[in-house]
Amino acid sequence: MARTTLLLQYTQRRFSHSSARGFSFFLLPSTLALVTSLLILFYVFTTSSLFSHHHHHPTHRLRVQSPPLDLRSQANFTSPPANQSVSSPLRVVREAGIASQRHGNGQLASDGSHANNTDVFHDRDEFLEDYKQMNRSFRIYIYPHRRDDPFRNVLAPVDFEPGGNYASESYFKKVLLKSHFITKDPLRADLFYMPFSIARLRHDQRVGVGGIQDFIKDYIYNISHEYPYWNRTGGADHFYAACHSVGRSAMNKVDMVRWNAIQVVCSSSYFISGYIAHKDASLPQIWPRHGDPPNLTSLKRKKLAFFAGGVNSPVREKLLQAWSNDTEIFAHHGRLKTPYADELLGSKFCLHVKGYEVNTARIADSLYYGCIPVIIANHYDLPFTDVLNWKTFSIVVATLDIPLLKRILKEVEQEQFLTLQENVMKVRRHFQWHLSPVDYDAFYMVMYELWLRRSSVRIPF
Ligand SMILES: *[C@@H]1O[C@H](CO)[C@@H](O)[C@H](O)[C@H]1NC(C)=O
Ligand SMILES: *[C@@H]1O[C@H](CO)[C@@H](O)[C@H](O)[C@H]1NC(C)=O
Ligand SMILES: *[C@@H]1O[C@H](CO)[C@@H](O)[C@H](O)[C@H]1NC(C)=O
Ligand SMILES: *[C@@H]1O[C@H](CO)[C@@H](O)[C@H](O)[C@H]1NC(C)=O
Ligand SMILES: *[C@@H]1O[C@H](CO)[C@@H](O)[C@H](O)[C@H]1NC(C)=O
Ligand SMILES: *[C@@H]1O[C@H](CO)[C@@H](O)[C@H](O)[C@H]1NC(C)=O
Ligand SMILES: *[C@@H]1O[C@H](CO)[C@@H](O)[C@H](O)[C@H]1NC(C)=O
Ligand SMILES: *[C@@H]1O[C@H](CO)[C@@H](O)[C@H](O)[C@H]1NC(C)=O
Repeated sequence: MARTTLLLQYTQRRFSHSSARGFSFFLLPSTLALVTSLLILFYVFTTSSLFSHHHHHPTHRLRVQSPPLDLRSQANFTSPPANQSVSSPLRVVREAGIASQRHGNGQLASDGSHANNTDVFHDRDEFLEDYKQMNRSFRIYIYPHRRDDPFRNVLAPVDFEPGGNYASESYFKKVLLKSHFITKDPLRADLFYMPFSIARLRHDQRVGVGGIQDFIKDYIYNISHEYPYWNRTGGADHFYAACHSVGRSAMNKVDMVRWNAIQVVCSSSYFISGYIAHKDASLPQIWPRHGDPPNLTSLKRKKLAFFAGGVNSPVREKLLQAWSNDTEIFAHHGRLKTPYADELLGSKFCLHVKGYEVNTARIADSLYYGCIPVIIANHYDLPFTDVLNWKTFSIVVATLDIPLLKRILKEVEQEQFLTLQENVMKVRRHFQWHLSPVDYDAFYMVMYELWLRRSSVRIPF
């Protein structure tokens, strides 16, 4: 329990600081609460079956797996370096906070008592209540830039409506800047937003993919010298958003960003060292589409399953190998002859298969077209997993089980299928962007994820 010791030392330090201000009675109970939270976390870790990930079940029962939550059995997860003095207590507090929130909603319950819960939320009441509080009180400070800043194109929001595969990054920024979450007073801010756009840096000839790391390093240098806020927490109350996977390695020259700041990224995989689950958050990759396709639920979906895409990963190779000649599972590679939308509208299940990265826009596409997503992307930290119970509207299949895919899908009984589909219709709204945000849409959901990650502690200095 080295972390606990650290925490205690830390709180004692805080204790002596604050007692002068007469708040000491406040800290003892909260220290006890934190220690209790830690013990609960430790207990859950050691007892929950969710934390031992089974790739292969011997049973023939339908395997609707929960999203992989595992950190420990994936040996290649990189731990933060031992010498980061600033962030450890913060990390502990933040994780304990999230864990206790989750514990209450039963997601981690190992006795299966929530197995029949078909609500798309882990805990609807708790979420709705938290959401209201978030909506009321959450404040973000955005680092400003000068009107004549040479990198204005990178720092300002785009002046058109974002589209295409990586739209989420630009959409998020554009909507955030106009939202009621923004404060001009940094002292009121819960979090600080660093508005650089990875997508724009990639295409900026002065920077390019090769120059992004140095740009970020300069950016952090600049804000940490011009403002006091970065140093106060080592960046732990700072965040940025990026959808292109370059965003991950963009931080390689600033460890403080990787270990402390909140990275809101599309490539959210438990298996890569640049992403730290619970600290960082998953940004859903969404290709923005408008209006609703007609008759989503009454459609006759004749095909069992559908996939189309480049074969750029071993997982996709495996899928094609197993199913490219099948009459029920349609797995295409290369250009489709039929409209993409028709395929998604005509299939019961739509496959999201890991390519270069765990994420693609296919999950949001499936939901948009009312098709039940099948997620074949091991270690994907699925968007909004803190809130949404993915088991109720998707099917997660381990890569190893690709040869069993047809059986897995056929074993979904009609009743369960209808429930999944109904739930797809319920969660669609969480995976849609709007220029003027609509409650519970992708923007608000990302804000909620950020709100869960706001720091509870600041280093006094
Ligand atoms: C994970 O680590 C093990 C041992 O350190 C290594 O053999 C294996 O190749 C690594 N896997 C990946 C995907 O990096
Ligand atoms: C500790 O930090 C120093 C400077 O920040 C760095 O050079 C060194 O590699 C770090 N050590 C470890 C074990 O990460
Ligand atoms: C879940 O549903 C099944 C079948 O409807 C039932 O047999 C089982 O007892 C239920 N489990 C719980 C925990 O409610
Ligand atoms: C969230 O805040 C916005 C802006 O004040 C408001 O329009 C919206 O109704 C609020 N939503 C909820 C659920 O409170
Ligand atoms: C950092 O500040 C310097 C000096 O004001 C400026 O020239 C440079 O463009 C800034 N770099 C970034 C990445 O903001
Ligand atoms: C923040 O810390 C750095 C490195 O310790 C220091 O150089 C810088 O002056 C500090 N910034 C402020 C605003 O004090
Ligand atoms: C959608 O449903 C309406 C009535 O339910 C029907 O008139 C219309 O033809 C349907 N459209 C399509 C594209 O199936
Ligand atoms: C699919 O069928 C074609 C033609 O019958 C055959 O050449 C090909 O090897 C088959 N592919 C797989 C993966 O079985």
